[in-house]
Order: sequence, then structure tokens, then C-alpha cells
Amino acid sequence: MLIKEDGYNYKERFKTSSKFLIANGYYGYRGSLSEDTSKDMVVWNLNGVYDQVDNQWRESVNAFNPLFTFIKYHNETLHPAITQTKKHNLSLDLTTGILNRKTTFIIDDCEIIVRSRRFANQKNLHLIHEEYQLSTNKPLNIELYQGIDMNVFDISGRHIKKIKQQIIDGVFFVSGITQEKEHPIDVMSKIETNFESTDKPELTENKLLHHYSIKTIPNQTYRIIITAGVIHSKQHQKDILHKMILNSNFSSVINENNYFWKEKWNKAKIHIKGNQEANLAINYDIFQLISHRPYNEFVSIPARGLSGQVYKGAVFWDTEIYMFLFYLLNDIHSAKNLIKYRIHGLPETKIKANHYHYDGAFYAWESQEFGFDACSDYNLTNPITNEPVRTYFKELQIHINGAIVYALNQYLTLSKDYSILKSGGLEMLIEINKFYASFLTKNKKNKYECINVIGPDEYHEHINNNAYTNYLIKFCMTTMINYFEYFKKSNLSYYHEISRKYKNIINKAKDIEKNIFLPKPNKDGIISQFDGYLTLKDIAIEDLLAKKKTENEYLGGKDGLASQTQIIKQADVVLLLVLFPNLFSKEIQKANYHYYKKRTEHGSSLSKAIYSILASRLNEVDEAYDYFINGASIDLTGKSKQYAGGIYIGGNHLAAYGGAYMAVILGFLGLDFNNKTFNKNIPKAFEDINTKLLYEEAIL
Ligand code: BGC
Repeated sequence: MLIKEDGYNYKERFKTSSKFLIANGYYGYRGSLSEDTSKDMVVWNLNGVYDQVDNQWRESVNAFNPLFTFIKYHNETLHPAITQTKKHNLSLDLTTGILNRKTTFIIDDCEIIVRSRRFANQKNLHLIHEEYQLSTNKPLNIELYQGIDMNVFDISGRHIKKIKQQIIDGVFFVSGITQEKEHPIDVMSKIETNFESTDKPELTENKLLHHYSIKTIPNQTYRIIITAGVIHSKQHQKDILHKMILNSNFSSVINENNYFWKEKWNKAKIHIKGNQEANLAINYDIFQLISHRPYNEFVSIPARGLSGQVYKGAVFWDTEIYMFLFYLLNDIHSAKNLIKYRIHGLPETKIKANHYHYDGAFYAWESQEFGFDACSDYNLTNPITNEPVRTYFKELQIHINGAIVYALNQYLTLSKDYSILKSGGLEMLIEINKFYASFLTKNKKNKYECINVIGPDEYHEHINNNAYTNYLIKFCMTTMINYFEYFKKSNLSYYHEISRKYKNIINKAKDIEKNIFLPKPNKDGIISQFDGYLTLKDIAIEDLLAKKKTENEYLGGKDGLASQTQIIKQADVVLLLVLFPNLFSKEIQKANYHYYKKRTEHGSSLSKAIYSILASRLNEVDEAYDYFINGASIDLTGKSKQYAGGIYIGGNHLAAYGGAYMAVILGFLGLDFNNKTFNKNIPKAFEDINTKLLYEEAIL
């Protein structure tokens, strides 16, 4: 359960620090080095706080860095990028969540050994801890600095203004407010040292530092323990943080931390027997999912987790379709928070629907606080010309609504916590269906059609009757009707009240359920991804990729190489088959699996796990394994797209982690969610899988 990396690679440092990210749902802290600065993308990313500078993209906010620690020797800062090293390694211990670092620098024939241990406090979510130690094998005059770096890494403008620094009872305190909503961001840090040396604090415009001049005694360990905290909510009080920091005791926090992880692993661990690579990958994914659980019902999980501002720190359908199952089966409380986050977003979704002249609720493609849609109309840039590219994700990916209903239904099926329906869940369902009802159009044959959308495969825009979307809309209608029926049986007076109030949408839903156009398999069993898809140019992926003019070329949209072809970005029809396995025979599933796998570029990290599940269900277990291991280890191998067009999209791939979990549970273990049965499909690559599935415990 140890993720390791030996040696330092400057060019790969962003990928490395993603891999070693630690988080606790309140914040994420990238696995950068103590001496790194904003140019190395040191990021303490906050969940649920967003800000916009001028008319740049609105994105999540990063806090000041309180773990900034470095050594100067002869006026030069030691850093593995410029200083000679004998050894350098990082390791993340998944069993305890502790990130260990060891570097041996060589200077003037002397070895300087730096070690650190860092972890995110999982109980007191404001706090982060680091123990930093150094020793030398010869006497050396060094300068040691530790403090808060106010040079925050930001992608779209400097978000924190009115920065103030103070020292209160020896605790460093830096505060500021965000540009747009003047939201307070407060960072504090306390240090304890085991050595006697005069502290000469340095206060510059961008840094607040302790400074020690030390003449080292060979082989003696000089230790600094840093306890730092952040507050990013108006409700949380600064003086409470101050007390928390003063009272925090490193060894008891370590014990609490170990206990937390022990408990979590006891429930969530998956043991893949006979394959260490797969075992490590899936448990790394689980580690990150646990680390990203939402801290309350007003936050969710961004697509890139808390690894930074990529994708604006926003929440996508990734959460409901890809990550949700993990929380459902391991941490039902977090699953409920995820649903509640969407319920709290309802007012914003009505504004969006209204803006596009529809009824009901239209959920954000890129959701920020209270469901605000941060998706831009120009969400990409052309990597050659640097020109913004008009994209239609925001207005045409209407399948986002259905993803939320899918998760709500899973939650209700498992938890039987029907109270959520009365506290906004039913309204959400109704409003989502009102939106769909106003979006659909009737054709001459009296069938409802879904015109001008984008499906999960984003490469093809302005398409009609995307099979995935149409089936999903029918599912939304059925789900709503079923919950009305549930109230009819369980609470007749409430049923009468709501059926009176929502008579129109119920009648409409029944009509749509019966009459929506559902693309059927053709004579070869293939379901057309959308109207006319099967008549597009059928080209091999390699041939298409060979035409690329630049590495980061975007393949979709108006001028994209894939747009007029059958090459797709990610699982689309295959996702339909995976989410609704009972609608299609095994033959149809097989035909579509083989057809679409040749045409899927997997340009999104959401794709491979879905192919893995279907492959398992079709008994193509070895292919299932290949898809699984590729997706599950995406951030361990670093094999992921770093750019979409000219836009940087690196960071942690939370949906791939959730997808890998689904691939194990729904694919290899073959869980049939509705019937609660298992049908194991174990690939040759490993012997067996063990996990506790705490079904009954999940039920509230
Ligand atoms: C995918 C979307 C996904 C988004 C965030 C895009 O590349 O096509 O389906 O929601 O990334 O992960």
C-alpha cells in the first residue's frame, strides 16, 4: 500500500505532485516539495470557494502556502532541480495517508538529508500537518526558513486581495478576501522546533518566514513540526482556528489519523489477489475517493478533485455517474451529501433553464457553489492559433440532468431513505422532467425527439436523438412516476396533494415514457449513437490520429478531425448498455461492444472503465482487465491527456478512480445492483478479489 517515486524529474513535476496529492474534502494539497513555489504549482486548493477576476474564467480558490520550508547555503536555496542530490524519493503510505519525502543533497562534499512527513487532518478538516527534519554528516552553516508563502498559484487571475500578515502569540496569520464575493480566506501556522536557535522572523510583501541560522552538529536531527490551518467559510471563526492550532499536538494527531484510516480501510479496502499492480492501483483510487468525500451538503467533488483549478474546480456529471457508487456502498452519508448538493442548486438551474427558454431545472455542465454554471461558451482554445473555440457543452449536454436522477434513484434503491424526496428530491426530479418535457419536440409520427444535443461523446455536436440521452430521459420519466406511485402506497394524503399540484407534468411524463423515440439496434444489432451516425465516414483511429497537425489538437467540434467520422471520444452507447443492462440482450451488448470499441479514442478518462465493465459482463475478461488497469492507474503512470486544445487539463482524475471502482464491483464482481446478486468474472491477470460490501450497513 505504498506509492513510491525515486529520483527528481523537473519536467514531470506537475504529474508527480498530482500523484502525491493529499486531501480531506475541505481542501487538497498537491504533493509538491516543501521548497517548491508557485512556479512549481504548489496548490492548497479549497473546496466550495470560487472567484472570478475581471472576465477571466471563474475558478476555485487556492490558499496561501503554510508549508513553505527551505534551506539556504551560501545564499543558494537547495532544490533537487538545481542542487546535486544523491537520492530523492517520495512515498505515499495509503494505510495512513502520510506522504514521506527523503532527499540527500550533496554540497561541498557534505550530505544534507531532508526528510518530511505530511498529512491532511481527516477529523479537523481545517488542519494540515508536516514534520520537517534535516541533518548533515559534517558541520555546516546553513540558513533554515519556514513560513507562509503568499505567492499563490492561480490559473485565471489573482483571487485573493487585501492580504494582511500578523504574528499572534507566535502563530503566523495571513488573511485576505476574494475579489468577487469578498469571501474571507485565513491561513494560520504554528511551528515547534527541537533546536535552540534565535528566530529572526522575516516579513516581506509575499512571505512571512521564520529564519534560523544554524551551525549544524553532524548527524544531529533538526526538526520543525508545522501545524497549519485554513478557514474559508464566513461561518468559521478565526479565533477558533487559532485555538485549534495552539492546542494541536502532533503525536496525538498522528494517532487519530492512523485510527481514521484504519477504520476506513477496514470497510473500503479491495484485495486483488495475485496482482500487486492492480491491487495498488485500485486502493490508490479508493484512497483518493475517501480523501475527497464532501465535507457537507453544500459541496460536491470537482472533476479534478481538489488538485487545483483545472476545469475551474467545477463539478461535472462525473460525480453522479462515475464516483457515486463508491460512496453509496462505502459512505452513505457522503452519498447523501452529493445528492443534497444538487438539491441546493435547484434555484440556479431554473435560472439556466429560463435563460435558454426552457421550463424546469437545467443543471450546470460545470457546477460551482449553489449550482452556478461556470462553463464558458468558449471552453477551448485552438493550440495553433490560440483563438478561443466556440463550444456548446453548456447548452447541449442535457444528459447532465439524467445523471443526477440516476444517482438519486440508486441512492433511494439502496438506502430507502425516502425522506430525501420530501426534502427537495421530489422537486428536483419534477423540475428535471419539466425541463426535458420542454426540450423534446414531437415529430410527425407523434414521437418525442431530442433534437440538437451533445451526448457523452463530445466530439459530435448538434446531433439528434443521442441514444444515451433519449433512453436516459425515458428513465427519468419512469423514475418520477414510480416515486409518485410509492407515495400512493405509503402516504395517500401526500400523494393526493402532490398529484394535484403536479398533474400536468405527471400526465406529460406518462406520454413521454410511452412515446419517446428510442433508437433500436439495426439488423446487425448496432444502436446508432445518434441519427445518421452510422453513415459517417468509417475510419480507423490510427489513420485519424495520423492526420493531427499538433499534439494537443482538439478532435471534436465544428472543424475537428473526428466530427465527420465515426470516431468518438468516450463511451456513449456502451455507457447506455452498462447503466441499463436489462434493456438489451447479451447479443446486442456484444455487437455494440465490438463495434464501438474500434471507434472509441478514449480521449476522456471517463471511458475505459465503462468498456471494462461491459467486457467483463460479456466474459471478455482479459480485455476487461486491460481497460481496467489503464484507467485505474491513470495518475500512477501519468498516462493522461494534459491538454484539450490549448487548455491545460492535468490534475487528478476522480472519475477514473470511481470508474475503476465500478469496474471491480459491477464488472469483475458482477454486482447486479437491483437484485443484489453477484456474478464473478475474474481475469487471468489475477487470482481473486475480496472486498466487504457493506450493503446492509449502507442502509440508513
Ligand atoms: C469529458 C466529460 C467530462 C469532463 C470532466 C471531458 O473531457 O468529455 O465527459 O465530464 O471531461 O471530466
